[in-house]
Amino acid sequence: MGHHWDALKTHHDGVAQRHILDLFAAEPDRAHRFSARAGAMLFDYSKTNIDAEGRALLIALAEGAGVAAKRDAMFAGEKINDTEGRAVLHTALRAPEGVKVMVDGKDVMPGVHETLARMAAFAEDVRSARIRGQGGAITDVVNIGIGGSDLGPAMASIALSPYADGPRVHFISNVDGAHAADILRGLNPETTLVIVASKTFTTIETMTNADTAKRWMASKVANPAAQFAAVSTALDKTTAYGIDPARVFGFEDWVGGRYSMWGPIGLSLMIAIGPESFGDFLAGGRDMDERFLHEPFEENMPVMLALVGIWHNQICGHATRAVLPYDQRLSRLPAYLQQLEMESNGKRVAIDGADLVRNSGPVVWGEPGTNGQHAFYQLIHQGTRVVPCEFLVAKEGHEPDLAHQHLLLVSNCLAQSEALLRGRSLDEARAIMAKKGLTGAELDRQARHRVFPGNRPTTTLAYPKLTPFTLGQIIALYEHRVFVEGVILGINSFDQWGVELGKELALALQPVLEGKAGTEGKDGSTAALVDYLKP
Ligand code: F6P
Repeated sequence: MGHHWDALKTHHDGVAQRHILDLFAAEPDRAHRFSARAGAMLFDYSKTNIDAEGRALLIALAEGAGVAAKRDAMFAGEKINDTEGRAVLHTALRAPEGVKVMVDGKDVMPGVHETLARMAAFAEDVRSARIRGQGGAITDVVNIGIGGSDLGPAMASIALSPYADGPRVHFISNVDGAHAADILRGLNPETTLVIVASKTFTTIETMTNADTAKRWMASKVANPAAQFAAVSTALDKTTAYGIDPARVFGFEDWVGGRYSMWGPIGLSLMIAIGPESFGDFLAGGRDMDERFLHEPFEENMPVMLALVGIWHNQICGHATRAVLPYDQRLSRLPAYLQQLEMESNGKRVAIDGADLVRNSGPVVWGEPGTNGQHAFYQLIHQGTRVVPCEFLVAKEGHEPDLAHQHLLLVSNCLAQSEALLRGRSLDEARAIMAKKGLTGAELDRQARHRVFPGNRPTTTLAYPKLTPFTLGQIIALYEHRVFVEGVILGINSFDQWGVELGKELALALQPVLEGKAGTEGKDGSTAALVDYLKP
């Protein structure tokens, strides 16, 4: 492995100063050669400093890390999450009929399909008012969950809103009572269904919000539990909470929280868009799985997306990556990807327990364009640090009568990656300022502010339209990207020990804030803040 990294470092040292535009000049068909297709989806990474040699070295790195064998082991149900002793099988949630996936000698697929069928029947019953609230047909569904039990369906219910023809869905995640208060205020308890979504059914935020929702429901409804459903791996706990087992949708510990929206955690989404559209979403994920499994690395979109990520983060040293959807309905995609990527690959220890010898995965951030353009793109264009940008854009929107706005959206997306590539030289800036009548030292000074260095790397993921199928492809694409990057870095992408310490300390601080315990042993800052904040 070491020699692959060394070769990439040497290659990078040799090419770091060149301009990406020169690569286009030398290779007229570069856009074609440095892109990957997944059906109608196009991933263009030609506006990066990766050339044929760099790509070959990156692919050799992936091969040397055993990506193919580890990928196959994941799909086959091997316990690759070895700090928790678990298989990693979110792919089974979208696997087709007829496939067998064995865990501990047992085929898990019949259970997956049975749960999916139960979810579909429940969703249809809610959508068609066969299941009703105590005041009539269900008009609103509230999903109470956090992290992976919130972000997936929350992101997707916005992304797929053109397909939503069921009850409205809402999401409560934050332990901040303001969240529950603001969401519940506008709803009628008699026609609201609450889904408590928690893999463990112990997460303090979720259980606290579930209690709040139960009290809110009880203020108007004789039997609140009858308007509750649950999604969890802990069926004993859902029963103890009083939720009818017929309304509990279980899944197994081989589905990680942040990889779980394909199964029961997606119930709120399924109720909103219907089982058929949910099935299209699964089919999109499955389509990307097939490509990931079978396509040669050079044409394999998840592998190439990962290798571009490794190039920018570990080789070029760019610490962050901006995800910039030119698609307002993907407004929550950056937040979703923050959990997916940073909870998976934000680790300082390799799978064998040794310190990581390279940087862990990048900081992921972003906002939809064009809004970001009027906020933080200044830094992306002229800041001293390079931020590799990942643009996403659809060929077609869902508003045919607003097609002119879609054209404007697309032109902005393309303009940004073009500007970041091309930049504007001092001479060009001087010419502009001279035209405005400036001369001498003032012309020089003003021109310098208007220089864009350019040569800043971007990629563009272009797709026909943000349908359920396309969204499934996109989410599975990013899941596999995280997996490939994790394998190359030697990380276990499927545990999250880094969230534990804060949870433990928060529990211990509760009695301190209540005045039932003192601040002995706390650092001076924490003690002083307790003093200020305690009621
Ligand atoms: O604290 C992190 C985490 O465990 C995430 O990995 C998970 O998605 C989230 O909390 C919610 O967990 P649960 O579904 O068990 O409530």
